[in-house]
Amino acid sequence: LWTPLPETADRPDAAPDPAPDPAPDAAPDAAPGVRLVFAAPDDFQRLSVDGPALAVDRDEAFGGSDPDRVRLRDLLKAVTAEHGPLDTVVFALPLSAEGEVSRRVAVATAELTALVGALADGEFGRPLVLVTTRGAVHARDGDRVDLGVCALPALVRTAAREAAALRVRLLDLPSDRAEWPDAVRAELADREYPGVVVAARGGRRWTPRLSPVPEDAVPDAPPVVPGGRYLVTGGLGGIAHDLAAYLVAAHGVRLLLTGRSPAEGEKADRLAALRALGDVRYRRVDVADADALEAAVAEAEADWHGPLDGVLHLAAADPTNQWAALERHTLANETAGTFAEQFRPKVDGTLALARLLEHRPDASLVLFGSVNGEFGGHSFGAYAAASGFLSGFADHWRHERGRDVRCLAWSMWTGVGVNRDRPAEPAARRGFRALDPDEGLRLFLAALAAPHHYLLLGLDLAHPELAEELAPGDLYAGELVVAHAGGDPDAVRAAVAPLTRDVPVPVRLVEVPRVPRTPEGGVDAAQLLLDAAPARTRRTSAPPATDLERRIARIWSDALNRPAVGRDDSFFDLGGNSLRATRLLALLDDRLAVRLTTHELYENPTVAALAALVGDPGTRTTGPSTPGPGEPGPGTPETGMPGTGAEAQ
Ligand SMILES: NC(=O)c1ccc[n+]([C@@H]2O[C@H](COP(=O)([O-])OP(=O)(O)OC[C@H]3O[C@@H](n4cnc5c(N)ncnc54)[C@H](OP(=O)(O)O)[C@@H]3O)[C@@H](O)[C@H]2O)c1
Repeated sequence: LWTPLPETADRPDAAPDPAPDPAPDAAPDAAPGVRLVFAAPDDFQRLSVDGPALAVDRDEAFGGSDPDRVRLRDLLKAVTAEHGPLDTVVFALPLSAEGEVSRRVAVATAELTALVGALADGEFGRPLVLVTTRGAVHARDGDRVDLGVCALPALVRTAAREAAALRVRLLDLPSDRAEWPDAVRAELADREYPGVVVAARGGRRWTPRLSPVPEDAVPDAPPVVPGGRYLVTGGLGGIAHDLAAYLVAAHGVRLLLTGRSPAEGEKADRLAALRALGDVRYRRVDVADADALEAAVAEAEADWHGPLDGVLHLAAADPTNQWAALERHTLANETAGTFAEQFRPKVDGTLALARLLEHRPDASLVLFGSVNGEFGGHSFGAYAAASGFLSGFADHWRHERGRDVRCLAWSMWTGVGVNRDRPAEPAARRGFRALDPDEGLRLFLAALAAPHHYLLLGLDLAHPELAEELAPGDLYAGELVVAHAGGDPDAVRAAVAPLTRDVPVPVRLVEVPRVPRTPEGGVDAAQLLLDAAPARTRRTSAPPATDLERRIARIWSDALNRPAVGRDDSFFDLGGNSLRATRLLALLDDRLAVRLTTHELYENPTVAALAALVGDPGTRTTGPSTPGPGEPGPGTPETGMPGTGAEAQ
């Protein structure tokens, strides 16, 4: 759900806008802090960005679905040679919803990817990149979703995770154009805001928050029409097979399964097992081929003597080959081919299903997405964007068309499907739980009975990074932790007793070495939770041993807000999450002039290991500068390893 942000002036982390106030006729080369605005000429006028701003026609700079990255870099070189490092880049995506959806999705993602690629290595400064959209999210009643840009929030969140040199944010503008200048001004005035997606509505800033859905509040209704007629796309895939078997066996549904490949080998076995249970047929149809889909469904409906009752859309391009070459799939290096591959089933396929269901108004639609569509995914931006499209589509269909549609965004399934052999640890580090098929099925059934059309399934809400995303009014307490920095525990217990007496959850007293603080002086709640975690047994690690280790350790202390770190402490055990990793990498670059990738940090998560890596550049997996599109850096890892920073669910 969307909650309003406190007014900027009321927030302790808000810093004043460093760019000068708008001067009536400010020369564009006034220093410091040049703002570069990529926009269609009309939109540039409408956004009326303050300060010394240089306007570049977005179409000319990017030129469609295959932007010329060399030309873009040349442009940035010319601008920064004349005006100095970039302070702010405003990137105005198409602000009118015109044109064919799938082409617009491809163009918007290609342009944004090219821009992030050009800025990612910090050569042109460390700007705040503000991506403006209109209709990318459904934040308030009455909003209309523009399917051409609704994949963008997931891509921007991916960029925020990957590009240490940048602060990237998406601002979704209100429908009233008169409000645009104020909305942009408010965003640029709050450079330090750590959130990534903001919607400006009614003069306020809104941000998406997680709101837990209690499973026991779910009504006990059948999840499907008993004996009903269903289409399952990607129907011989791993998860689909498990769900199909349950639905046929438990509810006697009739199924049309579709996929592109012949039912051979493992798929033939799955089909035979399903056919043994009931009326199940398989047709080779690419879900993006609307005519073939219509023909296959019409044929099944004729046999079944009735129309479809619903569709489960599970078709997806398998992203797991990306694990073998993660650096090549960061946005800085990602290719149009990967985007096209991921978009075909999830974007074009969903649009084809929409066409199919246009004249089947009572049929339901369940879209299978990923938590990456909400949170982004390091090295899996195309998959994240494709999944993000699904939630935007679900919003559009539910709110604007009144259709029975759901988007289920899953964490990771184990045992079946594309992640069946993947270790669960990297996902768990982000708070994404591994779901075995039984739990997956249980959640699936609960989700179909729930009144919500967009659900994230498999989140660990006790994980500090996700706890930070919870809506304030929806925080659910599993226990109350009373943390104290020293002192007599009995005295502390007595002191808090009047406050905790009526608390309906267990109260746990924990001694912490000190109360962790944010750079602004507030209590660092996420760090406090980690310090107070019961299972966390802390080893005492030896202090940094060399001068380089000591310098790196000081930078860690700053990034983690800790007074000291040992040479063998793991960054992640000390509360390092991907946002802090981004901060750490930026600090390492600033202070040691060493540019590391998140992948290198995840592979070398201790001060000692990082010092060894930095001290011996020959062992680095990537060079100091980012490789060109599609081109691996020197020694780019060719094998996916557990514990990498990459994130596909
Ligand atoms: N597994 C997980 O941990 C996980 C986590 C989060 C979300 N999800 C989502 O859950 C769904 C199922 O995942 P899964 O792991 O079961 O995947 P899977 O085993 O790879 O099944 C997906 C199926 O989609 C089919 N497909 C791909 N492109 C298609 C196209 N253009 N037209 C028709 N069919 C197409 C493939 O068959 P053909 O090659 O024969 O076409 C494949 O059998 C996916 O949407 C995925 O994004 C999975």
